[in-house]
Amino acid sequence: MFENTISTAAAEQFYNRLGIGHDRAEVYEGLAKQQGLAALDLRPGQRVLNVGVGTGKEHLQLQAAVSSAGAAFGLDRSPVMLKLAYSRTGAPLCQADARRLPYASASVDRLFSSYMLDLLAAPDLPGLLAEFRRVLKPGGRMALVSLTEGVDWPSRILVGAWKTAFRLNPLWCGGCRPVQLAALVERASFAPVQREVVTQLGFPSEIIVAER
Ligand SMILES: C[S@@+](CC[C@H](N)C(=O)[O-])C[C@H]1O[C@@H](n2cnc3c(N)ncnc32)[C@H](O)[C@@H]1O
Repeated sequence: MFENTISTAAAEQFYNRLGIGHDRAEVYEGLAKQQGLAALDLRPGQRVLNVGVGTGKEHLQLQAAVSSAGAAFGLDRSPVMLKLAYSRTGAPLCQADARRLPYASASVDRLFSSYMLDLLAAPDLPGLLAEFRRVLKPGGRMALVSLTEGVDWPSRILVGAWKTAFRLNPLWCGGCRPVQLAALVERASFAPVQREVVTQLGFPSEIIVAER
């Protein structure tokens, strides 16, 4: 895994500029996100936190799954993304940094975060996972979806090209690089940790499901 990537301020600027254009990524990210959402096993009445809501497409599904008896809330650093997600969902969202969650300890039944951990620097990840664990209730579950290493020849070729582009200029990849998070999640005292890799148009994504 590349240790470093663009700064969080640069990531915020990048996603402010990208805006609704990020929805185009659905053609290679959509399947893995659907699998991550399904693995959360959401029920009406639950409280679910979406970290890095982006344009809010998955948030609509989180809202529907917990129904008006529950609460689907979220955060993002990018004000442009928050505006898009709010116009789509009307959900309670806030501008915050995922590394310091503005929520009480043990206040969340489920946590979802897609394609955000893969754009944070490696030294930030243990603290981020400790924050995820802090806000989850005991027995609470999270699903993390991220770009990962290739698992077959099309995805290995694609990831090889992606890494070359990343080395030349991480901004060409939106700061996003392949990660493998299972060991880190285990070290953050989550259990059990399940990992699955889904590829779509050669783009490999890992889905990590773990419980506090
Ligand atoms: C690749 S997008 C993914 C958005 C959405 N989860 C999805 O799957 O479509 C990454 C999102 O994370 C947000 N983000 C990046 N770094 C962040 C941080 N440190 N704290 C909160 N949000 C962050 C970006 O603004 C952007 O909306």
